[in-house]
Amino acid sequence: MNFEKLKNLIIYQIYPSSFKDSNNDGWGDLKGIISKLDYLKDLGINAIWLSPIYKSPMNDMGYDISDYYEINPKFGTMEDFDKLLEEAKKRNIGIIMDLVVNHTSTEHKWFKEAKKDLNSKYRDYYFIKEGKGKNKELPPNNWDSCFAGSAWEKLDGHEGFYYMHLFEKTQADLNFNNEEVVKEVENILEFYLKKGVIGFRCDVISNIYKESLNDGKKRLYLTGREHYLSRPNVHNILKRFKENVLDKYDAFMVGETSFVTRDEAKLYLDEFDMVFEFEHASADQNTLVPAIKRKYKPKNLIEPFKVWQKEVKWNSLYLENHDQHRSLSRFGDSKKYNFLSATALASIIFTLKGTPFIYQGQEIGMLDYPYKIGPSNTKDCCVPTVYETVRKLHFPKKIALDFANNVCRDHARSPMQWDDRENSGFNEGNPTWLPVNECYKNGVNVSENLANPCSILNFYKKLIKIRKDFEAFKTGEVEFININKNVLSFYRILNDEKYLVMINLCNKTINTPFRNIKHDLVLSNYTDVSLNILKPYMSIITKLK
Ligand code: NOJ
Repeated sequence: MNFEKLKNLIIYQIYPSSFKDSNNDGWGDLKGIISKLDYLKDLGINAIWLSPIYKSPMNDMGYDISDYYEINPKFGTMEDFDKLLEEAKKRNIGIIMDLVVNHTSTEHKWFKEAKKDLNSKYRDYYFIKEGKGKNKELPPNNWDSCFAGSAWEKLDGHEGFYYMHLFEKTQADLNFNNEEVVKEVENILEFYLKKGVIGFRCDVISNIYKESLNDGKKRLYLTGREHYLSRPNVHNILKRFKENVLDKYDAFMVGETSFVTRDEAKLYLDEFDMVFEFEHASADQNTLVPAIKRKYKPKNLIEPFKVWQKEVKWNSLYLENHDQHRSLSRFGDSKKYNFLSATALASIIFTLKGTPFIYQGQEIGMLDYPYKIGPSNTKDCCVPTVYETVRKLHFPKKIALDFANNVCRDHARSPMQWDDRENSGFNEGNPTWLPVNECYKNGVNVSENLANPCSILNFYKKLIKIRKDFEAFKTGEVEFININKNVLSFYRILNDEKYLVMINLCNKTINTPFRNIKHDLVLSNYTDVSLNILKPYMSIITKLK
């Protein structure tokens, strides 16, 4: 996308199942989204990334698509989607679709055709192979699924045959060596761009090209990855998408580059506007196995942000999404410093260089749903396999449950909290697909946030306004200042304007070297500000004179 347009984007991620339920069936829907466009406009965002709304059996909550050209009836119809596009456009809000093409659902007609007849052309749309061993009792290779367990599943009705799934077993991987698959994806892109969407968030894009199906080097996690993670040919495919379709529409593209190294992730900036990298998002995770927690330290959040700011011209700025636990629960202190830590975190993504993304509910300080997940009380398909895999390795139940809880994504997917009515105003009171987080009764809801001038939501609005009003926060240089390992601090400089940003990400008071400096305060989450002292979770944005 043209940089003049790109630099102004402020994107809000909607997780459709949990945003707003207009017909009281317990699931969010497109009409619900339409009814909240004015809220989003007022918040100040100008684009929505919609997690998948296509037809899907919902084993992986829509990331298992059974028809790219139909809307999931749970969410509405294609007419509702057209209406959403129209209503969003009236408000200058662009719609970004989720492009999930590493795999389709096994309910997709291509897979069904392949399964019906192994001689059909659709067999080669996927990886359907004979097993190894005397009786073909072993999968074709030793690769792991990213959701744990083998990446191969027996193909029903075809003794000795398996299909590959790098994610859940109902998500069969597409074969991008097949020219027709590449063409099919171009058609999908073109279909939605013609309708008027402004771009795509590309799901696990770094996995789509499988270079070979050889056995991988045995690893603790993701065995096989050297054969499919970010192989050079993925870039040729993406360049084709760009040249054949995306450039014609000046489409916005963000790629999810999971599991790859920083240098590999950076390569996608040739074809995409930005990527979702995971370095800062691992601040409380073991770097080798993300399912294992490590103690959160602010410097593990700050350092990756700094590195990416220095190394690339532009990138995404996000703190949470539908796959990660809530940032306030992970990196903040909701018990003692709820407003302060939520707003300090928010200050990062609106003052650094790049495109800010807000995940629904982040702007009101939504917290992780506080339940203990087990393999049978979750809606997240990866939990049971992770649990079983850990148990098979002979770890005790308690450890397997801890792992399951750490990876479980239900915590951040509970319904959006609109007000203090039953079910937080998400719907009219019917049971919701995931329970509502009770914290909506304690002020964590949109309506109370709107009414309180000193709320997290109103702070987000102010940050968004700063982003819009001050060009320096879009295109100004970023120059880092070292104050303390728990403080993210930098100047934004544009021509003769210089802004100082200091964000204290810990609960201690920290002295700064800034004394007797003339400045005009732009925004702080404290009312009493002096530049030489950073109180717990204090954020200061100021213009130097
Ligand atoms: C990444 C998506 O964000 C996640 O929700 C999904 O489970 C996997 N990709 C597989 O599509």
